[in-house]
Amino acid sequence: MNPLDFTGKTVLVTGGGVGIGRGIADAFADAGANLIIAEIDAERAAAVQAAHPTATVITCDVLDRATPARLADVVQEKAGKLDILVNNVGHFVHALPFSMLSGDQVDEILDTNIGQLLRMTAAMIPLLREAAPGSSIINVTSIEAYRGIPYCTVYAAAKAGIAGFTKSLALELAPVGIRVNDIAPETTDTPQVALDIMIPPENRANMDKWIPLGRFGTPADCAGAALYLASPLASWVTGTAIHVDGGALAAAGWIQTPTGEWTNVPMVSGNGLKIPGQ
Ligand SMILES: NC(=O)c1ccc[n+]([C@@H]2O[C@H](COP(=O)([O-])OP(=O)(O)OC[C@H]3O[C@@H](n4cnc5c(N)ncnc54)[C@H](O)[C@@H]3O)[C@@H](O)[C@H]2O)c1
Repeated sequence: MNPLDFTGKTVLVTGGGVGIGRGIADAFADAGANLIIAEIDAERAAAVQAAHPTATVITCDVLDRATPARLADVVQEKAGKLDILVNNVGHFVHALPFSMLSGDQVDEILDTNIGQLLRMTAAMIPLLREAAPGSSIINVTSIEAYRGIPYCTVYAAAKAGIAGFTKSLALELAPVGIRVNDIAPETTDTPQVALDIMIPPENRANMDKWIPLGRFGTPADCAGAALYLASPLASWVTGTAIHVDGGALAAAGWIQTPTGEWTNVPMVSGNGLKIPGQ
């Protein structure tokens, strides 16, 4: 039996219209799963529906307090169980020094990244229990859950919070056979982190030196990790993370110079993260 055949399995992907969520949705569809996608943007929802005509695409805002129960009703009606929950929605929202964030902005970043994820997970656990043992939750965090990032402090705190939640929930759900893991991407080319906008042309010459494996990520890189984590190949894997990062976390401050020499004292230009007006 092919462990990466998801025929008969139902997968819910939040934010499956573009980017990493779309890459994950495409991969599960290719592997035979029944797709349910929650997507806020009507155009993106229409595009993913056109690509996967048998998928159930719900146009909704996962931050809306009523959405998790609504989606649970859809999953119940379509399949009566949920095999895989992919909590993908997240956004840095405001790239600003911590001292410049208002209280409302802090709340917005927290709810966009961890608040909605907790509510969605709570709503789906009864349906994941129906598919257990063997069902699983995959939370998309970030490499910033495992290292610091300037001007995205609250985003990084929320992502680190999800990593902690992943570990503790994994313990609670292990006895019933539901696994919980996270995928932590480094910079991945998506509409949220559009590399052609983020990296000015003059800075692109040595892009292959910044990440040990010589390139930035694509949504397909995360999709590969998601398929593995959801599959029986990972049946003894829970409460942990896969860093989908081309080796960036291992490298920490080490990069290669244009001539291929390794250094931890590089002279580089910025990538656009700066205090407004600076
Ligand atoms: N792209 C990266 O470099 C990167 C790096 C680390 C972590 N991540 C994480 O990966 C996840 C996906 O990131 P991405 O870059 O693919 O994002 P993206 O913004 O390109 O795509 C997100 C998708 O979710 C949808 N969406 C946004 N808010 C929603 C809401 N409230 N309700 C329903 N749908 C909503 C968007 O319309 C879009 O289709 C996020 O959690 C992000 O924090 C991304």
